[in-house]
Amino acid sequence: MKKGLFITFEGADGCGKTTQINLLKNYLENQGYQVVLTREPGAKGLGEKVREILLNYEGAVSDRCESFLFLADRAQNIDIIVNPAVNEGKIVLCDRHIDSTVAYQGYGRGLDIDRIKMLNNIATNGRKPDLTIVFDIDVETSMQRVGKNKDRMESAGIEFHNRVREGYLKIAKEEPERIKVVNSIQTVNDVFEEVKKIVNKYL
Ligand code: TYD
Repeated sequence: MKKGLFITFEGADGCGKTTQINLLKNYLENQGYQVVLTREPGAKGLGEKVREILLNYEGAVSDRCESFLFLADRAQNIDIIVNPAVNEGKIVLCDRHIDSTVAYQGYGRGLDIDRIKMLNNIATNGRKPDLTIVFDIDVETSMQRVGKNKDRMESAGIEFHNRVREGYLKIAKEEPERIKVVNSIQTVNDVFEEVKKIVNKYL
C-alpha cells in the first residue's frame, strides 16, 4: 500500500493557493494517487458551520474566542478527515492548517505564539503535516486580488496582514525541513512548476 501523506498549503488571502491545490490534485490523481481535499476553516460537515461564524459573524468576537473556533474546526478536520485518509494511504491536501493560527492569531492578532503552538498541538493530537507550502505574496497585491468584497478576516487591515506575512516567513525559517516558501508573484504555471518540484521529493 502507498504511504499516506499530509500536505498543507498556507499564505495570505489571495495568494493563489486554492488554484494550486486543485492543479496538484489533478496532477497526483493522474499518477494514480488517491487524493483527499480538505480545508480549514470549513472541513466538511460541522466545520462548515464553524467557518460561517468565523468569516461572517457580525458581532464582537474576542481574539481568544476566534482562536478556539479555528482550533475546534481543526480537531474535527484531523479526527474525521485527515487521519483516516492518511492511514488508508491517501494523500491529503489541506487548504490552511496550524500555521494559519500562528500567523493570523499569533503574529497578526498578537496572541502568545508559544501558547498558540501548544493549543495547535492539542487540536491536532500531535499530528504534523509532512510538508507545508507557503505561498508568499506582498500584501498590496494580495489585497488587490481579494478585491472589495472582504470577509471578516480580510477586513483586518494592512498592518495586520503585514504581520501575518512576516509571521509566515519567520515560521518557515524556524522549520525549513517541513515548510517550503514559493514566490506567488509568478504565472500560475510557473508557481505550479515549483510546487511539483517540491512535492515530487515526497512521493
Ligand atoms: P478563506 O476564505 O478560506 O481564505 P483563503 O481562501 O484565503 O484561504 O478564509 C479563511 C480565513 O481565516 C483567512 O483569512 C485566514 C483565516 N484563518 C485564521 O485567521 N486562522 C486560522 O487558524 C485559519 C485556519 C484561518
